Amino acid sequence: MGIFVEFYEFLRLQMVFGIVRCSDIVILIQLFYEINSEQVSLNLRCSMEQYLIKGGNPLVGEVEISGAKNSALGILAAAIMCDETVTIRNLPDVNDINVFLNAVISIGAEVHYPNPKDRHTVTINGSGIRTHEVDNDYIRKIRASYYLIGALLGKYREAGVALPGGCNIGSRPIDQHQKGFKALGAKVWIDRGMIFTSADELNGKHIYLDVVSVGATINIMLAASRAKGMTIIENAAKEPHVVDVAQFLNQMGANIKGAGTDMIKIIGVDHFKAADHEIIPDQIEAGTFMCAAVATKGDVTIKHVIPKHLESISAKLIEMGAEIEELDDAVRVVATKRLSPTTVKTMPYPGFPTDMQSQIAVCLSLADGTSLVTEKIFENRFKYTDELTKMGANIKVEGNTAFITGVEKYTGAVVVASDLRAGAALVIAGLAADGCTCVEQIQYIQRGYEDFEEKIRSLGGVIERVDVDDRVDRDRMMRKMSLAAY
Ligand code: UD1
Repeated sequence: MGIFVEFYEFLRLQMVFGIVRCSDIVILIQLFYEINSEQVSLNLRCSMEQYLIKGGNPLVGEVEISGAKNSALGILAAAIMCDETVTIRNLPDVNDINVFLNAVISIGAEVHYPNPKDRHTVTINGSGIRTHEVDNDYIRKIRASYYLIGALLGKYREAGVALPGGCNIGSRPIDQHQKGFKALGAKVWIDRGMIFTSADELNGKHIYLDVVSVGATINIMLAASRAKGMTIIENAAKEPHVVDVAQFLNQMGANIKGAGTDMIKIIGVDHFKAADHEIIPDQIEAGTFMCAAVATKGDVTIKHVIPKHLESISAKLIEMGAEIEELDDAVRVVATKRLSPTTVKTMPYPGFPTDMQSQIAVCLSLADGTSLVTEKIFENRFKYTDELTKMGANIKVEGNTAFITGVEKYTGAVVVASDLRAGAALVIAGLAADGCTCVEQIQYIQRGYEDFEEKIRSLGGVIERVDVDDRVDRDRMMRKMSLAAY
């Protein structure tokens, strides 16, 4: 209470000496109350964090891209197939990876950080694995838990894994994974929300995938790398992370040829040996920062990337009027003028990635004209468009196509992330918007972007992670952020 008395006395003296007018007093009292009550509300932590973003600053500077999450998940699964110690470098420190590491620890694999301060290098030894069933509340939430089926089946000829969860982007069957395991000679069945598989022996087969599936390609590669004889996967996915997982398996002694083409040949081997592997940079994280640079009319050098992996994204951004300079292991993205509209169709690699659909749509919503975005991989990937509409975007979705009529600018609003990439897209929109945006459900974003807000801040973006469960508190914080000068 003392602080309020002191503040009252301070105001009274200001009035007596004519420094403030009576009408200003009300505003000062309000501000004082807000500052003090905000400190209280910030101490009341709750589990649902949000991002508060003040838009309007062009992103400028350099940002370093982390290791590829989707590569890392396949590589960690492959690693438990080895009974010697393997070292994995450039591991992204994101929630999905940490959940996956906990899952492999829970079945008996040894996981160490050789340097406890460095969360990007781990050693894994699979010799202590004592159970071939993996189930916990966390692993059910990540899609790539299915890689443990291929890995355990290949190594132990049996596996039971909780059916995968993941982002909310539509139906995600795993029939092609099952088809592959069955072709190798395994039985596959579902029971108690888990998928089980077992085989007396695994024999190489010629497998033609009905759809191009990253997950099925990697999963079959894992199991077939320890089968007898040769497996051929036709209509295989060609994504960079398929190649990265194959290279890691080969380092451990597997015999895999053709990864990166649509036909992969695998000759099974009996055991794996120690290996040391550095995960490739994350193509989607890099693409996300490219779009953030474009949407905010910034100038960002995105370092530690493989420019070849970004070509489909660069090509579209260039069509829209951005300038892209390819360096050895970096790309510089500069946008100065109003963007042009274009058409985007998501396709398997080397086509435009579905994981970049929402981020490029945020840029297209600011273009001078109408663009078409067609989603060819997942049917439910336009949920974010309703949220973007709250920020002023003009988007109509019909079937798997979004018709986007560009607007001059976004305006800040309270929006909800529906999945990992949609969440990142809303953050980009917030950075480009007038005023303050609150992005809720950021646990999705934390699954796959390392140090997201720190990286954005290092480029001059204004973003804060807060934890407020009270709408009044949040609105007050947004108002203050909107008014503050940065
Ligand atoms: C992976 C990525 C995900 C990305 C997606 C497409 C990981 C952990 N996730 O997901 O970020 O969005 O690739 O690039 O790497 N399908 C079937 N049957 C199957 C498997 C897939 O019909 O058994 C269909 C899917 O419904 C989808 C298409 O094939 O329409 C591609 O899916 P897939 O490549 O398997 O995606 P994921 O591996 O799950």
